[in-house]
Amino acid sequence: MAPLNTIKPLALPAAKRILVLAYSQTGQLAQITQSIVEPLRKSGNFSIHIEPLHPVAPYPFPWRFFAFLDAFPESAHMVAPPLQPLSLNGDEEFDLVILPYQVWYLAPSLPITAFLKQPLAKKLLAGKPVVTVIACRNMWMLAHDKMKGLLAACGARLLDNVVLVDPSPTLATFFTTPAWLLSGKRDFLPGLPPAGVDAASIKAASRFGLALRDALQNDQERGAKPLLTGLKAVDADPNLLFSEKAGTRSFYLWGKLLRAVGEPGQLRRRPLLLFYVTFLIALILSVVPLSLLIQALLRPFLRRRLAVLKQKFDAPSGSGIERMSVYEQ
Ligand SMILES: Cc1cc2nc3c(=O)[nH]c(=O)nc-3n(C[C@H](O)[C@H](O)[C@H](O)COP(=O)(O)O)c2cc1C
Repeated sequence: MAPLNTIKPLALPAAKRILVLAYSQTGQLAQITQSIVEPLRKSGNFSIHIEPLHPVAPYPFPWRFFAFLDAFPESAHMVAPPLQPLSLNGDEEFDLVILPYQVWYLAPSLPITAFLKQPLAKKLLAGKPVVTVIACRNMWMLAHDKMKGLLAACGARLLDNVVLVDPSPTLATFFTTPAWLLSGKRDFLPGLPPAGVDAASIKAASRFGLALRDALQNDQERGAKPLLTGLKAVDADPNLLFSEKAGTRSFYLWGKLLRAVGEPGQLRRRPLLLFYVTFLIALILSVVPLSLLIQALLRPFLRRRLAVLKQKFDAPSGSGIERMSVYEQ
């Protein structure tokens, strides 16, 4: 028998490292992230690093009226604010990155854009598999196109996309969401449904964490295939795309004008912001229902086109449910 001091300790494989970015104002996206990360944490097999993002000038919550409007020109143009330094220096190696983000004015929220636009993000994300998690009102498709561009610029590999939206009717959410963000109360408007993603969907997001746990244990993140198929990760509604396109164009053009008038927060942007918000409400009340009505009438003729769009925006994780029974708790 070999003397005790010559027996080599068993070389245990190093725990896989997961980077989770974190920014949330109301706590909604934080709760969803927590729901996904908890099964990974519980398994005890992973080293999880949560990196909070702090803009140097914090965005207020609840928002003040003008601050809320004033965020749209920079959001639409993806002109990101400076962030406080991160605790990472870019030399860290992660096996998987979970990137939760909210949508601001049909673009990724500014703190997330700020993270992705800094050189450090490229160092951290180059070649790494990324799972994006969106929680928003319900218009995220064009923001996700922008996100794909930001991730591609970092050289990241987008493996999966999970989307949770407010389940209430679109028209109601146009009022309940701003009311929530301006008042801090989800049920601020009596007679209308509460704003935000419902509690049951937030809890059920744990299925994604369970599936990620199994995929990581089988090294599937090293491949190119999505890890979260069959779990109803996304259920894109291509009927909203026309409104998203009209909104994006409007935010871009008016944003350009507002950025020419002044810097974020400057008083001289206010009259134009006030004019624009009136125009915007008229746009929402006319264009959105009108486009939904026209599309409802044209649905038989648009069916194939809408199916193609749905497939595009459901990708890569898809809206299938075939693995739900395995991972639902
Ligand atoms: C300035 C601002 C603009 C927003 N614009 C959109 C939008 O264009 N589409 C959408 O679906 N949700 C939009 N939302 C809702 C957010 O995506 C998100 O659901 C909400 O702010 C809660 O996120 P939290 O986790 O940061 O609290 C917006 C929110 C804010 C604060």
